[in-house]
Amino acid sequence: MLGLKLPTDPRWVNIVEKNIEEILTDHAFCEQKATSTAISLIVSFPEYTELVEEMIALVKEEISHFKMVHDKIVDRGWVLGRDRKDQYVVELVKFFPKGGSRTTQLVHRLLYAALIEARSCERFRLLSEELQDKELAEFYRKLMVSEANHYTMFLGFARQYGKKQEVDAKWQQLLDYEAQIMAKLGTSETIHG
Ligand SMILES: [Fe+2]
Ligand SMILES: [Fe+2]
Repeated sequence: MLGLKLPTDPRWVNIVEKNIEEILTDHAFCEQKATSTAISLIVSFPEYTELVEEMIALVKEEISHFKMVHDKIVDRGWVLGRDRKDQYVVELVKFFPKGGSRTTQLVHRLLYAALIEARSCERFRLLSEELQDKELAEFYRKLMVSEANHYTMFLGFARQYGKKQEVDAKWQQLLDYEAQIMAKLGTSETIHG
């Protein structure tokens, strides 16, 4: 349903499970980055009224996810650590050439956002199914549903604002590229690692 070409090896959960503090810290900053992305889309593309309205709602939702993760960290007696570089996203956003028309740039950013949401959703599903810690598993099940909605929203906007056929072709190319990145990952206790 997410269109991803390479499923995560479930053994990634065994790595995560050994360091819950680390995954929660990384996850908190994923939610912060999702919030920042939504704000940045408003700043870059203010004339797309429908997008702006959805991004306002998304900022609220993503920052509430950040709070949920932060609460989990505090509940467990930890303190939020420093942000980590998301190597997956760094690699992903190299795919489309820079520049092009405003619409092209918008479509590319929407496709990146859709893919990051889709992969996050897949990772959350795996955590919800495989984690021994049942409280945390339930937490990830709820978040998985939200991220699936974000994935469809971003992809929907890309198809709405771009030329549908072109967008669909780019989406397929991006999915192939993402699978190559993913083939080298799945070995660290980060949401996209
Ligand atoms: Fe989120
Ligand atoms: Fe999201």
